[in-house]
Amino acid sequence: MKPETPRPVHLKDYRPPAYLIDKVDLDVSLHATRTRVRSRLQVRPNPQAGGRHGPLRLDGEHLELGEIGLDGRPLTKKDYKLTDTALTLSKTPAGPFTLDIETFVDPQANKALQGLYRTNNVYCTQCEAQGFRRITYFLDRPDVLATYTVRVEADPNETPVLLANGNLVERGMLQGGKRHYAVWRDPFPKPCYLFALVGGDLAPITSTFRTMSGRNVDLAIYVEHGKEERAAWAMDSLKRSMRWDEQRFGREYDLDVFNIVAVSDFNMGAMENKGLNVFNDRLILASPESATDATFEAIESVVAHEYFHNWTGNRITCRDWFQLCLKEGLTVFRDQEFSGDERSATVQRIIDVRQLRTHQFTEDAGPLAHPVRPESYIEINNFYTATVYEKGAEVVRMIQTVLGAEDFRKGMDLYFERHDGQAATIEEFVACFEDASGTDLGQFKLWYSQAGTPELVVALRYDKDKKTALLEVEQVLPVTPGQSQKKPMHIPVRLGLLGANGHDLALKLENGAELADGVLSVTKRRQSFRFVDVPSRPVPSLLRGFSAPVNVTLDLPDDDVELLMANDADLFNRWQAANGYAARTLIEMVGKSAGGRKAGRPQRYARALGAAVASEELEPAYRAELLKLPTQADVARLIGKNVDPALIHRAHRQLSKLIGRTLGPLLEDLYVTMAGKGDFSPDAQSAGRRALRNAALTLLSARGTPEDTARLAKHYFKATNMTERAHALLLLAARGGPEAAHALADFHERWKGDHVVIDTWFAAQAQSPLAGTLGKVKALMRHPLFALTAPNKVRALIGTFAMANPLQFNRPDGAGYAFLAEQVLALDRMNPQIAARMLGALRSWRALEAGRRAQARKALQRIARTKQLSSDVQEIVSRMLEA
Ligand code: BES
Ligand code: ZN
Repeated sequence: MKPETPRPVHLKDYRPPAYLIDKVDLDVSLHATRTRVRSRLQVRPNPQAGGRHGPLRLDGEHLELGEIGLDGRPLTKKDYKLTDTALTLSKTPAGPFTLDIETFVDPQANKALQGLYRTNNVYCTQCEAQGFRRITYFLDRPDVLATYTVRVEADPNETPVLLANGNLVERGMLQGGKRHYAVWRDPFPKPCYLFALVGGDLAPITSTFRTMSGRNVDLAIYVEHGKEERAAWAMDSLKRSMRWDEQRFGREYDLDVFNIVAVSDFNMGAMENKGLNVFNDRLILASPESATDATFEAIESVVAHEYFHNWTGNRITCRDWFQLCLKEGLTVFRDQEFSGDERSATVQRIIDVRQLRTHQFTEDAGPLAHPVRPESYIEINNFYTATVYEKGAEVVRMIQTVLGAEDFRKGMDLYFERHDGQAATIEEFVACFEDASGTDLGQFKLWYSQAGTPELVVALRYDKDKKTALLEVEQVLPVTPGQSQKKPMHIPVRLGLLGANGHDLALKLENGAELADGVLSVTKRRQSFRFVDVPSRPVPSLLRGFSAPVNVTLDLPDDDVELLMANDADLFNRWQAANGYAARTLIEMVGKSAGGRKAGRPQRYARALGAAVASEELEPAYRAELLKLPTQADVARLIGKNVDPALIHRAHRQLSKLIGRTLGPLLEDLYVTMAGKGDFSPDAQSAGRRALRNAALTLLSARGTPEDTARLAKHYFKATNMTERAHALLLLAARGGPEAAHALADFHERWKGDHVVIDTWFAAQAQSPLAGTLGKVKALMRHPLFALTAPNKVRALIGTFAMANPLQFNRPDGAGYAFLAEQVLALDRMNPQIAARMLGALRSWRALEAGRRAQARKALQRIARTKQLSSDVQEIVSRMLEA
């Protein structure tokens, strides 16, 4: 079925399409195993393609072709060529023409969940990136923009709700009530990846939104019957997103309706189809009993993200898939800004940076490293990565930092004005900021083409006679696959210098040079900056607010770190100081097993942490972030080579225990005072108090006294919301024993009827560091609620085990890797996209110590040797073994 040997596509080979399609009329008659699709295309040769209009090659996969006609005349087999991946017409008229194509698809058999499929008796589509070709023959590329009219027909009893993009124009009954239909029209030209259609027996919650120009938009969220109440938070989030985009970016919604549908089987989190977003139901459904604060937060940000795509992605789309960060990086930046405005900007920044470092920095340091704008790919689905998304968002953020907020907004306005209705490129995007601000971003653009996380090696020399401080900076650009030579980059470094009392000193560069907004532009491989009139030896606070996605190497003495931790005016950097202090302590403890340890550093760190966390002028959510240690994956990344996950796990445990003991009274006090009073509210302040209470509980439980275990069990059984209950379940499952068994049984009993919430139960068990976990995971795969065809189940059980259980996944005997390989191969036969994602769990295999590295290689080689791999898995496994 698949193309024989997958060949890479290169950015440099981009050519405009030979033909354009201006208008699409689709007529879809839904049937579980044989859906009929009739497509009428208005086609014309593309004047931009230099007059050459040779054969018309339409993409199509997994399709059964029915009738086909050109300008009303039927075509016969000799008029076209049909392969597994294309339908090619060799002769076409010189001018515009109409093409009619009939295809048949089997939604029920579609387990790849791309194109048209059926889940829980709901028909739905997923077309990004290249799913439309599984519905009909088409020019499946984002630079072909057409207006769509879609007629959907189905059985009214089984499928009463019929939705597609745009506005509803007509609906009615057919065959005396045996069938019914609806016609939807989307007036905005769009690429086919934004097409969507849904049919099913779903229940809506509705609302309206009045736009800034006074138009009313009908909003609806469709969910499973009986789950309507759980969609209220998503609706609230949608309305706040719509308002925010008007206020912050001047962007107004453009259709009369905005629909969201929640489905239970979905490869990704959500999809921004024009006027008809489709969501994984775990990112819509939430109530205090069923969802954690983290879920409420995720719903808010994903609803915002998909809504924001309406301008950044839909009204202005991508010329080709190499430009993916044009919509994804920019839209992640926008949703991060939204969350920062709705909640605490500092806490949001900490969360985003933590995520960036854990995922993107790790990706960038391994065999799958690639630029924010890749130059070639085999399977585009493999490039929806942390690099394209998160680093892509950082690059947009840096443009804002370099230009300042005002010129950044002017650049965005120009982008919307200049490119509305177009399929644009990164060059065109960046040119808008250059034109709006008069700034040359030539060197800055290297952020799009050079992979790897730059390292800034910094030294600060103070001359107490001259009262000057010399900041010396070297940028080290790591080698990444296919890129050994790199040019120096433009790195914005926001900084402060702290005096002995912890206050910021005035920043004055020699020769009176300006330091706009406290931001230095580092542009050379080696560069120094001299500050004058510095009254005493300063402590540098570098990269404030994480002004660039880089690593900073600067060996500050512990005293200086503690000064920053207690005083830095930049709260992000205060957290950074604490987090860096924890990391260096953990790394030292890992090394200890091999040799000496600096006496008392863990105790010193714990006391400094206690002082910072005790300050009540800091908001609870922020104090909770202070209490969270760097993850074991973070420590592994910082160690970088010959990583022994078992040693990291042990150090992590030891330090948690030591903090729990050292700060016992403080933590017990927080545990009591942060307890909720009154009704549950998902707002940021209340969530912050719960986060701080849970963080205190984690460290108290690490001590492991009988009272601690009793407190933990009580936290579970007396919980009044899922944030408390799920956290206790996770900690209990990690400990094992009768309390864990009791809580797990209770959770199962409460939630076995809820396919979203039960995933918490699968995940808690998969994450347990206890020795029997792999066996448990294997057993759970036979649980009646588990299914390899359901991506959420796969992520909760297999994904959590492979990506969030460093100790047991990295068993020295290699059984964890062998298990993953086996599951990847099983998944690959039904859902290659999910199979390739799971395989990503091994992306850091080369950094492991020799024994585990050999085991991981064996698992990868086993996959690589397998015949008939999908191009998705094939590409990932070969890149992992190559580099
Ligand atoms: N456009 C994507 C969804 C998508 C990704 C479709 C890959 C096809 C292939 C959507 O806008 C998106 O980015 N969704 C994210 C969540 C978002 C908040 C980062 C997702 O699904 O994980
Ligand atoms: Zn997106």
